[in-house]
Amino acid sequence: MIILAIETSCDESAISIVDAKGGLKSPVFKVLAHTVSSQIELHKEFGGVVPMLAKREHIKNLPPLLDEALRKAKISPAKIDVVAVTYGPGLEPALWAGINFAQELAQKWEKPLIAVNHMEGHIFSPLLANSSKLKAKSLKYPLLSLLISGGHTELVLAEKPLEYKIIGSTRDDAVGEAFDKVARILDLPYPGGPEISRLADKWTTKNEYSYPLPRPMISSKDFDFSFSGLKTAVLYLVKKLGELNDEQKIAIAKEFQDSAIDVLLKKTSGALAKFGAKTLIIGGGVVSNKELKKRFTALVKKEFPKVTLLLPDAKLSTDNATMIALAGYFRLTKGEVSDPANIKAQGNLKLG
Ligand code: KG4
Ligand code: ZN
Repeated sequence: MIILAIETSCDESAISIVDAKGGLKSPVFKVLAHTVSSQIELHKEFGGVVPMLAKREHIKNLPPLLDEALRKAKISPAKIDVVAVTYGPGLEPALWAGINFAQELAQKWEKPLIAVNHMEGHIFSPLLANSSKLKAKSLKYPLLSLLISGGHTELVLAEKPLEYKIIGSTRDDAVGEAFDKVARILDLPYPGGPEISRLADKWTTKNEYSYPLPRPMISSKDFDFSFSGLKTAVLYLVKKLGELNDEQKIAIAKEFQDSAIDVLLKKTSGALAKFGAKTLIIGGGVVSNKELKKRFTALVKKEFPKVTLLLPDAKLSTDNATMIALAGYFRLTKGEVSDPANIKAQGNLKLG
């Protein structure tokens, strides 16, 4: 089955074409085209994503991306079996740009349409790492997903395929949002996550500065998170210190990153133990963080050797349409299909 997928939930316009077969039991995917057009440069001057601007850019970007995707995949629209599109969560004006485009294509090409939850896309994003067949077959349940992005921080449990329960989430800022805000406090450009991790990577034991920061909610008995206090702690610290030199910025970035990772690790290991998860998936833009990947890999190896940890490759960590094609495919294998006229953008769409 050939799926053309469209993603416009935030500041990446993306279209992928994926050939999928094998169903839920032994899925095999072949990515025929993976195109992304990032709007980061445009939103940079505003220090964050401006929804109406994002919408306008998506509308402009989608037609050339479609041409590029069809050209790369070397297929005509007639060969496409179904169109998949993200309908939430995300910025509603941005989501509408993708939905309207998908509706037009489905009508023009006379193809069915499947609406996809962006977060479910992140859950399936690691399936294409190295060998898709091998990874897909290793999905054992209960499956725990830690979803960490600019808009989300949640632990999602699936006892069975495609059935989700959110067992914990952030009570205020998402972890990616905290990275972005702390970057702004340190005068670093948007998006802040990669900037903070780049600075933190420069830290060595020779750094003479030490600024302990809190680990919010690390000892609470639930699986919820809170990152807004951590960001505020950085804000007060920077206000107190005044002008910062490079070494001070590095020390702050490192401590902030350690704090965020410590909390994510502690809550995730608690959930792995409590629910007896057999697979751990980490998805969302923050999984690009090298230190985070390193520490989760070490945690699973040492404390949960029976758990399979699945991490997406770099190009599938941040928003893309290939992961939307995968999630759409699994939904279709369950017999789901959307009524094109009834797809609505849902900014706060939840899993489960
Ligand atoms: O999933 P994503 O591309 O978009 C959303 O759905 O939000 O995630 C973007 C988020 C941003 O907050 C960005 O700062 C963060 O992922 N991010 C990182 C890194 N790379 C991207 N955070 C920490 N370390 C990174 N290396
Ligand atoms: Zn995302």
